[in-house]
Amino acid sequence: MTNESLLVAENVIVDYPIKGIGNKPFRALREVSIDVRPGETVGLVGESGSGKTTLGRAVLGLAPVTGGSIRFEGKEISKASPRERRALSKDIQVVFQDPYTSLNPSLTIEQTLTEPMRVAKISAKEASRRVTELLDQVGMPSNTLGRLPREFSGGQRQRIAIARALALNPKLIVCDEPVSALDLSTQARVLDLFREVQEETGVAYLFVSHDLTVVRHLSHRVAVMYQGEIVEYGDGDKVTSDPSHDYTKRLLLASPVADPGRQKVRREDRRALIDASK
Ligand SMILES: Nc1ncnc2c1ncn2[C@@H]1O[C@H](COP(=O)(O)OP(=O)(O)OP(=O)(O)O)[C@@H](O)[C@H]1O
Ligand SMILES: [Mg+2]
Repeated sequence: MTNESLLVAENVIVDYPIKGIGNKPFRALREVSIDVRPGETVGLVGESGSGKTTLGRAVLGLAPVTGGSIRFEGKEISKASPRERRALSKDIQVVFQDPYTSLNPSLTIEQTLTEPMRVAKISAKEASRRVTELLDQVGMPSNTLGRLPREFSGGQRQRIAIARALALNPKLIVCDEPVSALDLSTQARVLDLFREVQEETGVAYLFVSHDLTVVRHLSHRVAVMYQGEIVEYGDGDKVTSDPSHDYTKRLLLASPVADPGRQKVRREDRRALIDASK
């Protein structure tokens, strides 16, 4: 944790209320600490239910933070008022997993991209210039502006969602499984786009994925979550190739490999690890 961090989460606790009298809340995050530096990608991996989305949502002000602190550029944001949140949305944006539900189906691409700028009171002329620039940045042809989301593939929709997130030049984008719904070759191209965008704009990503191989090439640092806690956090190459925690080792061995020979070896390795941890 350094002074130059963009985002610093410290000992963050999230308790979800459980319906029904006398039910204890469910603790989804147990004192999680993480930081993201300007222009950096921090990958967040872990199995389903480990709390990745919850951490992303806590940063976005969408999950109930019961304890700890979340600071953005040194300022506490975990208790931000709705008005402060709206102001923050210029700096902190989000790209969700499902490109089929994250875009409003009745808005054209131009309207989708213009909306955040309209809210931020950017002039129509400037917004129109920026929309063209954004489409170009995400590799979409400019003649697509008048079309509706349903006319695009999943990969193209994710490009549009990325363009929308970039509209106000954010400093941080929370990406929650942004390529998980895409087929493998589309995944690779959209991941390349994330990287290009970062090189061009210096935006930082908190990049959530259940798949270690997806975050491996993109992340400068990787945090591994397990049952609401971060069990390993460090240099991306180190964590994804030579992890120190047994859980990360299992996760690594569980991520898909195309080569059946290597798969067999890994299956045996995994079994040995599981046996050893019994
Ligand atoms: N609104 C909610 N109310 C109660 N419990 C919740 C709520 N949202 C999430 N949870 C629980 O919190 C835990 C963490 O959920 P979360 O969605 O953060 O996991 P995740 O790591 O993103 O999983 P996945 O890989 O499946 O997306 C899970 O046990 C989940 O059931
Ligand atoms: Mg999730």
